[in-house]
Amino acid sequence: MRPLLLGLLLLHPFLLLFLPVSSSQCNFPAIFNLGDSNSDTGGLSSSFSIGPVTLPYGETFFRYPAGRFSDGRLIIDFIAERLGLPRVSSYLDSLGTNFSHGANFATALSTISPQNSILPLGSYSPFSLDVQLKQFLQFKWRSQLVYKQGGIFKGLMPKEYYFSKALYTIDIGQNDLTALYFLNKSVEEYLPSALKEFSEVIKSIYRIGGRYFWIHNTGPLGCLPYVLVQLQLKPTQFDRIGCSISFNDLARKFNKMLNETVIQIRKDLPLAAITLVDIFSVKYSLFRHAKEYGFEHPLRACCGFGGGKYNFNATARCGKTANINGIDVLLGKSCKDPLKRINWDGVHYTESANKWIFDRISAGRYSDPPVPLGFACHLK
Ligand SMILES: *[C@@H]1O[C@H](CO)[C@@H](O)[C@H](O)[C@H]1NC(C)=O
Ligand SMILES: *[C@@H]1O[C@H](CO)[C@@H](O)[C@H](O)[C@H]1NC(C)=O
Ligand SMILES: *[C@@H]1O[C@H](CO)[C@@H](O)[C@H](O)[C@H]1NC(C)=O
Ligand SMILES: *[C@@H]1O[C@H](CO)[C@@H](O)[C@H](O)[C@H]1NC(C)=O
Repeated sequence: MRPLLLGLLLLHPFLLLFLPVSSSQCNFPAIFNLGDSNSDTGGLSSSFSIGPVTLPYGETFFRYPAGRFSDGRLIIDFIAERLGLPRVSSYLDSLGTNFSHGANFATALSTISPQNSILPLGSYSPFSLDVQLKQFLQFKWRSQLVYKQGGIFKGLMPKEYYFSKALYTIDIGQNDLTALYFLNKSVEEYLPSALKEFSEVIKSIYRIGGRYFWIHNTGPLGCLPYVLVQLQLKPTQFDRIGCSISFNDLARKFNKMLNETVIQIRKDLPLAAITLVDIFSVKYSLFRHAKEYGFEHPLRACCGFGGGKYNFNATARCGKTANINGIDVLLGKSCKDPLKRINWDGVHYTESANKWIFDRISAGRYSDPPVPLGFACHLK
């Protein structure tokens, strides 16, 4: 397009209506991420051998198991790509990591509130949100020590001012809801204290200079095989697309409280630009209209064992092998066409679904305030 024509288009009053109030791109120099498996780029896989570090994880994009709980890229990978930044290395990964444009503290099975039942003996990650915050704070000062020392490691560390210009992304809460539900905890006791913890973490990041936050609420986990197989629901307990009504209600309840928490944080931290992204709605619309969007079997895991309604068996998950007559046989196999599937392994989404979700959330339609990803530094 010729410069003159472009100028005219930008100045056209009708088009101006569609530009955000403050219309300059943010140029985030780094991403710091906290969360669970939805955004884990190698944390759990580096620290505990129970992680699915084997193929077919990673098969679609990386062609090797890349520490991610998917066949390919996660939403956090698409966020980094869109912002023109390298993939965010996991803080816990000691091999080949480069933190010059950010660090990822997320691990699969992480919760906001610390759990009693943690790995390797229990079910949840010891790297709960409070621990991830401490790791981040330690990362902040140690990375600067290393940076100032110079030498070969300097190029792997972020510059100091990146911490105040970075986008802080957070996606956590899903495992708190399963812990709460399956360990019979009281919603009224659990959720307020978890959200208080969440709020404290944002405030701590703010205190060290963080200003820009991109927060995902939790998805409709009542549509995921690992939840559905545990519930043994009666026909009336499913919604019209086959998801658990009560479990999705629990997710909605968490999201409502998260929203209220964010509204309060905005009041407490007037200089913070906090974008809250409604992941629940975008994922739910994907399940609901799967066919129209070119996906099939929305509630069935692509990679798993046993077939059936959900193709999910907790003792023979995706990537699981069995030794039969001295030969390792892969039980948890991938499906024919992961590109057409939403659910990857009974718990997590396929790369194809992650991309679909990213394309919608990055445009701002599901965000509060409704700004696109690249503009998330502007105050509400
Ligand atoms: C780390 O990543 C940055 C950005 O991609 C790159 O410019 C730099 O060369 C990398 N550092 C090393 C030591 O590989
Ligand atoms: C939770 O409660 C249900 C029903 O009361 C019970 O069957 C189950 O064993 C309990 N689970 C735990 C972890 O206490
Ligand atoms: C949060 O609540 C406000 C109303 O209080 C609503 O306008 C907004 O859409 C909600 N945001 C999300 C992400 O649910
Ligand atoms: C789950 O897989 C195991 C093999 O690891 C098998 O023995 C068991 O029967 C399966 N369970 C169901 C419900 O299919």
